[in-house]
Amino acid sequence: MSWGILATGRIAHSFARDLALVPGHRLAAVGSRSAASAQAFVDEHGDPSTRAHATYEELVADPAVDVVYVASPHGRHLDDVRLCLAAGKAVLCEKALTLDAESSAQLVAEARERGLFLAEAMWMRANPTIRLVKELVDEGRLGEVAQVRAELGFVGPPDVARLWDPALGASALLDVGIYPLTFAHLLLGEPRVVAAAGTLSDQGIDLSGGATLTYPSGAVASIAWTQVAYTDNRASVAGERGNIQLPARFHHPEELHLTLGGTTETLSRPRTGKGYAHEIEEVGTCLREGRTESDVLPLDETVSVMAQMDEIRRQIAATSAPH
Ligand SMILES: NC(=O)c1ccc[n+]([C@@H]2O[C@H](COP(=O)([O-])OP(=O)(O)OC[C@H]3O[C@@H](n4cnc5c(N)ncnc54)[C@H](OP(=O)(O)O)[C@@H]3O)[C@@H](O)[C@H]2O)c1
Repeated sequence: MSWGILATGRIAHSFARDLALVPGHRLAAVGSRSAASAQAFVDEHGDPSTRAHATYEELVADPAVDVVYVASPHGRHLDDVRLCLAAGKAVLCEKALTLDAESSAQLVAEARERGLFLAEAMWMRANPTIRLVKELVDEGRLGEVAQVRAELGFVGPPDVARLWDPALGASALLDVGIYPLTFAHLLLGEPRVVAAAGTLSDQGIDLSGGATLTYPSGAVASIAWTQVAYTDNRASVAGERGNIQLPARFHHPEELHLTLGGTTETLSRPRTGKGYAHEIEEVGTCLREGRTESDVLPLDETVSVMAQMDEIRRQIAATSAPH
């Protein structure tokens, strides 16, 4: 499987390091807005046949590329994924897929019309220990799940433009809140009610927030996110028989703690690299089997979570005075 990487920022480097660990996958080409940056990236991660392109257009036109990993800021994803699809390429696009549900749905429709693979790079879903959490819950090990709690935060460095520039889609919800929200969706499905509040910057960027979601089953999820505080980054899932605890950072865990009847055991499934390897494997499996959508990274759920983020941002904007 020959990958092209579009953009050469922080996450592109992490992805390339994991790509090198997955048998049967290689870095075929890199596209950047700058020739020097593309070449430096190829020098660091490529092999002698990896090509460096000075534009994203040249990258997507490269016949050696089977699938493009889009690693630009959220605000560019709509245009960048469209560019890939128009060139007939399969796409794995970083989260958040776009800035709102409507444009995400447009991309999904376009990929489906063209018969091309598309997935959001929600690597948490492919993490082996997260998949084990889902299996344990679906097997009923906790009994009926009544509560999910998850939060994720960090202090966004001031020099990372995409976290602070509204034009690039800056939003703590789109950047980190998407993980606890997706985690709740993975385990509990579609919420019945979403009630959110948060803090806006003077430029209108949501910096911190929290939401309580309720589900037809009666379950409740409490989630929180921030880009202005070092939070504990843990998650838990609780049912009538016991609970699962995920240590920090819960969205790419190497182990979980299962407590049943007062006894706690630690379970784990091996993780390759930092964890991006598993979404890479999943895309490879889909493409080899001729599938244009992944069950592990499902497009309809991506759009549904985007719609929940639209609603959360609407509620935050309606109730928060700028900070
Ligand atoms: N899955 C994860 O764990 C994870 C972690 C962090 C971020 N992300 C996601 O990955 C995406 C990129 O995040 P990042 O941390 O890698 O960002 P970053 O370090 O700022 O890199 C973004 C890259 O996008 C390209 N780009 C295109 N237009 C740009 C513009 N107007 N301003 C700045 N950069 C522009 C640049 O590459 P060129 O100069 O080569 O064109 C830049 O290096 C975001 O959607 C983010 O949510 C995911």
